[in-house]
Amino acid sequence: MKRFVFAPGLFFATVLAVSAAQKVEIPINYDEAKVPKYTLPDPLVANDGSPVRDAATWRAKRRPELLEVFASEMFGRTPAGKPPGMHAEVTSVERAALGGKAVRKEITLWFTAGKTGPKMHLLVYQPATGPGPFPAFLGYNFYGNQCVHADPGITLSTAWMRTNAENKIVNNRATEGTRGVSASAWDIEAVLARGYATVTAYYGDLCEDRAEGLTLAVGALFGTPAVEQRRADEWGAIGIWAWGLSRALDYLESDREIDAGRVAVHGHSRLGKTALWAGAQDERFALVISNNSGCGGAALSKRVYGENVERINTSFPFWFAKNFRAYNRREAELPFDQHELIALIAPRPVHVASAQEDKWADPLGEFLAAKHAGPVYALFGRKGLGVESQPPVNQPVIGDGVAYHLRTGKHAITPYDWAQYLEHADRVLKPRRR
Ligand code: GCU
Repeated sequence: MKRFVFAPGLFFATVLAVSAAQKVEIPINYDEAKVPKYTLPDPLVANDGSPVRDAATWRAKRRPELLEVFASEMFGRTPAGKPPGMHAEVTSVERAALGGKAVRKEITLWFTAGKTGPKMHLLVYQPATGPGPFPAFLGYNFYGNQCVHADPGITLSTAWMRTNAENKIVNNRATEGTRGVSASAWDIEAVLARGYATVTAYYGDLCEDRAEGLTLAVGALFGTPAVEQRRADEWGAIGIWAWGLSRALDYLESDREIDAGRVAVHGHSRLGKTALWAGAQDERFALVISNNSGCGGAALSKRVYGENVERINTSFPFWFAKNFRAYNRREAELPFDQHELIALIAPRPVHVASAQEDKWADPLGEFLAAKHAGPVYALFGRKGLGVESQPPVNQPVIGDGVAYHLRTGKHAITPYDWAQYLEHADRVLKPRRR
């Protein structure tokens, strides 16, 4: 994804961001010496001040408290469960896709009875090695399903998307030129060769990534008002996208060729924030992967390094609940931080990845959040990340429950990242080998 502003090499930069009413100056810190002194909230202290000493207390008391604070103060509240009338329609099956290496399936998941309401288009590639059930990687794509592979059999998305000449999106629609533009970010052949399925959908099917999106599609289904008209704890786009990942998993539970008990949910950048929130809320996800998710994702907010709370709420006022704006320039007052979002995934495995040049996403803050989720994994007898300091570049650490890697290069998801996720998945999802 392109950045609105990215200023590598600047230690202290000031960016101009335009809010609805006025121009505001939002300072951006890239100087480690200017990171404020902060105290991370202890995930093992309950709201009443009592310590959480065992997994049972975590599950019954503390986990619900943290889910509540992330819902009310940050992402907004998520409607529970499947909407009535939700149903799936398999629209295509090709059992000799990708030169015989894969089975390709396309499914339309309708969120209401009938065929006029909101829907998401799922694309599944699974190994052609047998009937499965296969473990799977589930994640959203940025430009429509056809962007993940040049396979001409993928149905071209007709949904709205931001015009982007480089990625061949013209007049807010995908063109034939978008086929395979994100292929390196999916590495589908590598995933299939290791015995996994890939499942994807375009995130804009659920909520267009612009302010107007909140009142359309899934937002409309739940009566979500316009961005500024929302109640303070009403959900934003990230909440809607996360909800959609759970609905995709609902579908996978009905697909006998996929093992819904072995699904890794993943996402890059804004979709990494989304994957973490989905994985925190929905315990059916067996592995959660955050690729360069940064502010509002894996990075600690209280470090105020790179993108900060005010900046993200100003650039993307529709991503989070309005309540999150109370912490603009007030990160110290946050009653939670992102290590606790990661901790909500415990004891299930989580993998946090950073890129060395991705200062905007604060790689060190992403590492520290992964590390400080550790005490919650310990309640379940797991060691967590198991390292004290950020590992050197290209030296992944797959700990006990928590994994982290820092890759050389820019903000992206690359075949190197996939190699680490596959290694981790091989340990925790244990696919059948071909
Ligand atoms: C912007 C935004 C980030 C986001 C990124 C992306 O840079 O500020 O928060 O993660 O876009 O989604 O690529």
